[in-house]
Amino acid sequence: MKIEFPESLPKSGALAVAVTKDKTLSSTAKLIDQQTQGAITRALKVGRFTGEKDQVLELVAPAGLNLSRIVLYGLGDPKVIDALALENAGGNVVQRVSGTGDSDVVIAVDALPRCKLKTPTMAAEVAFGARLGGYRFDRYLTDEKPEKKPSVKRLGVYAKNAAAAARAYERLAEVAEGVELTRNLVSEPANVLYPASFAARCEELKDIGVKVEVLDLAQIKKLGMRALIGVAQGSANEPRVVIMRWNGGAKADDKPIAFIGKGVTFDTGGISIKPAAGMEEMKWDMGGAGVVTGLMRALAGRKAKVNVVAALGLVENMPSSTAQRPGDVVKAMSGKTIEVINTDAEGRLVLADVLWHIQQRFKPKVMIDLATLTGAIIVALGHNHAGLFANNDRLADWLLEAGLATGERLWRMPLHDSYEQDIKSPIADIKNVGDRWAGSISAALFLKHFVNDGPWAHLDIAGTTWCYKNQPTVPKGGSGFGVRLLDRLVADHYERGGAKK
Ligand code: BES
Ligand code: MN
Ligand code: ZN
Repeated sequence: MKIEFPESLPKSGALAVAVTKDKTLSSTAKLIDQQTQGAITRALKVGRFTGEKDQVLELVAPAGLNLSRIVLYGLGDPKVIDALALENAGGNVVQRVSGTGDSDVVIAVDALPRCKLKTPTMAAEVAFGARLGGYRFDRYLTDEKPEKKPSVKRLGVYAKNAAAAARAYERLAEVAEGVELTRNLVSEPANVLYPASFAARCEELKDIGVKVEVLDLAQIKKLGMRALIGVAQGSANEPRVVIMRWNGGAKADDKPIAFIGKGVTFDTGGISIKPAAGMEEMKWDMGGAGVVTGLMRALAGRKAKVNVVAALGLVENMPSSTAQRPGDVVKAMSGKTIEVINTDAEGRLVLADVLWHIQQRFKPKVMIDLATLTGAIIVALGHNHAGLFANNDRLADWLLEAGLATGERLWRMPLHDSYEQDIKSPIADIKNVGDRWAGSISAALFLKHFVNDGPWAHLDIAGTTWCYKNQPTVPKGGSGFGVRLLDRLVADHYERGGAKK
């Protein structure tokens, strides 16, 4: 989908105009209403559409104009319209028009009385939402009929001061690139995306100035990442650790912020094998690594003024004659010994070594890891919040705020010592699972064993990485949850002279 900011209203194709609460027409809606001898006013009389948020109403082939359709989109109360409401509107319009056969749609974005946002910002947010909502992973659909494909090819966002709108959108377009990269990675099947091929995808980021280092099995062994290797050893696909760096900070030696992602390209459970039903979902057990990669794409793309280190632990968890067994004891890179009670609790083993390595090598000022770590976080929070665990209240608050601002919401969970007893082992320093209860907390506490006192947060994104129900800006499939959140965190708190937005 091509996105433009035209200077005039279209003569053909679809045109979307805003209506706010109580059926209040925006200025373009009024103009179009006049040009169609009151088609909009009449339509508003005969349906339930009132102009509330997320409502959409379609008028087909209006008399008086050559448009194929007019789409009314609701924005609710102008006083409380925020970026998310506009993004949703953009997504809603594109998703609706994509089912009609129209290839061209223009969304008119007007200044609204009492709305706090500037019109160019509003237009950019609408474009951003439309782009995110129009995403689709279709590379393996080879015989879909053209009339079944989403039809929108060109989107225009019409607003006063088109040049300013286009400029405001530039930054958001880079974030969208990052979200799309994450969605693509998460959606790929595991025969296509395995550790080596994932690492190759990361290397493509060199083109936009990211430094990419790929550690192979020999190098990983040399570093002593035995916990990670224990997980990988059952698979013919050898592990990789990818380290990416973006140095946009004022000084090259400014301490970086670090992002670490669980990248289990497929999780069968290993010898503690998972049930067959639904196992195909475990292709997205690399969701954390997918977010970290997409985030690097976004930060480098918009030339973020910050030093960042990103690290991925890429492994495939398979059962085989070389796989690790329940009861095995491995010595992590940090020197701690781990009794592997359940080979399906593999993500924490991978992260243990990657967290430790990044901390020792780069001395980051903050570390944030993302992982589809536990089914238990889905039991606790479902699909609308990710679990947040942090050893630092300020960092936790910043993350919670960024979540509210971007719609990628977090809920803070306890990381209290009293749960430590769950992971005590009689034979090793710790074991890799607790008992039945509080599974996400014992997993987070396990990770904490490999983190020193510096600020650290762990996001358990098992419930948010895959979207099961179409949403305005998140189509069904890989969600990209986390990219916008962390881009925002970086922009608001770690970038020098960076935009507050
Ligand atoms: N990758 C899974 C967690 C998961 C489950 C993610 C469902 C997304 C959807 C993780 O490796 C795992 O298997 N965790 C186990 C831990 C248990 C063995 C202590 C779980 O949650 O059941
Ligand atoms: Mn597992
Ligand atoms: Zn897993």
